[in-house]
Amino acid sequence: MKKILLLNGPNINMLGTREQDIYGMDTLEQIEKEVQEFGASLNLQVDCYQSNHEGDLIDYIHQAHQTYNGVVFNPAAYTHTSVALHDAIQAIDTPVVEVHLSNVHKRESFRHISYTAPACIGQIIGLGKQGYFLAVQALYDRLNNLH
Ligand code: DQA
Repeated sequence: MKKILLLNGPNINMLGTREQDIYGMDTLEQIEKEVQEFGASLNLQVDCYQSNHEGDLIDYIHQAHQTYNGVVFNPAAYTHTSVALHDAIQAIDTPVVEVHLSNVHKRESFRHISYTAPACIGQIIGLGKQGYFLAVQALYDRLNNLH
């Protein structure tokens, strides 16, 4: 069975209580369960991790190399600051899709820059949790040469 890593960065563990008007009411646990179910419907195993620590996220990205067939990654605030996460994504062969729940381009200007996106195969922004499903679908299609 092919394997997808669903990786979320800092403060995403606070979904459900954090700024509900921006991020919605679902908890990360609920979203992870739904993404795992969606992955299973495509015969994909989805493993989920979240960390508030940049170094942990770098370690997870490294572990994805030759272990996972694709990564769905919301680097959260580190998107806008982390050269180290850019370099980690660049260092692995596994395709990474960047996801943001909110439309960062409608928000503060410091969110308009992504250090990580140039190392990813693509980016899905502003569609809420649907972005995670679309990212899994995109990786599935790529793995099966459907696009
Ligand atoms: C976010 C957008 C980031 O700017 C922010 O720091 C987050 C969440 C999103 O999913 O919309 O924590 O990545």
